[in-house]
Amino acid sequence: MMIEIAHAKLNLALHVRARRPDGYHELETLFAFVDHGDVVDVTPAEAPGLTITGPFGAALSGEGDNLVTRAAARFAEAFGGGAHAILLDKRLPVASGIGGGSADAAATLRALARLHGVARDDPRLFAIADALGSDVPACLLERTALGRGRGEQLAPVAGIAGTPVLLVNPGVGVSTAAVFERWDGVDRGGIGTGNVLDVALEGRNDLEPPARTLAPEIDDVLDALAAQPGVTLARMSGSGATCFALFDSEASCDAAAARVARPGWWVQPTRLL
Ligand code: C5P
Repeated sequence: MMIEIAHAKLNLALHVRARRPDGYHELETLFAFVDHGDVVDVTPAEAPGLTITGPFGAALSGEGDNLVTRAAARFAEAFGGGAHAILLDKRLPVASGIGGGSADAAATLRALARLHGVARDDPRLFAIADALGSDVPACLLERTALGRGRGEQLAPVAGIAGTPVLLVNPGVGVSTAAVFERWDGVDRGGIGTGNVLDVALEGRNDLEPPARTLAPEIDDVLDALAAQPGVTLARMSGSGATCFALFDSEASCDAAAARVARPGWWVQPTRLL
């Protein structure tokens, strides 16, 4: 068996620059990862299998065409290695802007690569990740990085590891495609360069306004986070609805976690990797 954590992905900033003829959007985004995620456990087996457990497992059960299954199938086509039984412990809310399925697919690829002696930076792994979804290459790399194109063109940057983060999801799933469709088409400019925190603070998430029209609860989450003592940045991640706040200390992050808790909300204190 081979265990990998599918760490949640954050977009510290996400600037949408243009609609593309292929239906995707041209982005500039600052990816970061946190010390909390789903758990993927891969074991060689006679036949392929996927078992889903965990607090958010029920939201996925019954989906035959899971990204994890597809990642394993693409890996087998490229590298062989036979069939695998995969256990996915779903600890991250589904369809929530923090990677989820993309992180799970990437963790599956990393586990299979370790199991079968494939280098983690093998370009063929990245090609598989790219074909599985726009965020999968970033989740495979799992490092603070600037993403361009659909998010798949990655340039690692120095992160701010250890920064306390609070993740809050209001308990509503949001469709990424529906949020992108509602983007107003206005290019508000690119992402800056320099220290990651400064770049994030000067940046924005252009998907916040369209996501809030689909899930007004996002306003409540952002208002609650922004009002907490010790917050340096409160923002939505990806296409939502999960929002995050960076804190100046672990104590203020933990205190905020207790204060913002509401029935139906997922509240998770963690730290940047
Ligand atoms: O690449 P992925 O399958 O994760 O994307 C899901 C949907 O999100 C796409 O079908 C597209 O509608 C939208 N998307 C986009 N521009 C991006 C990434 C995703 O329009 N850069």
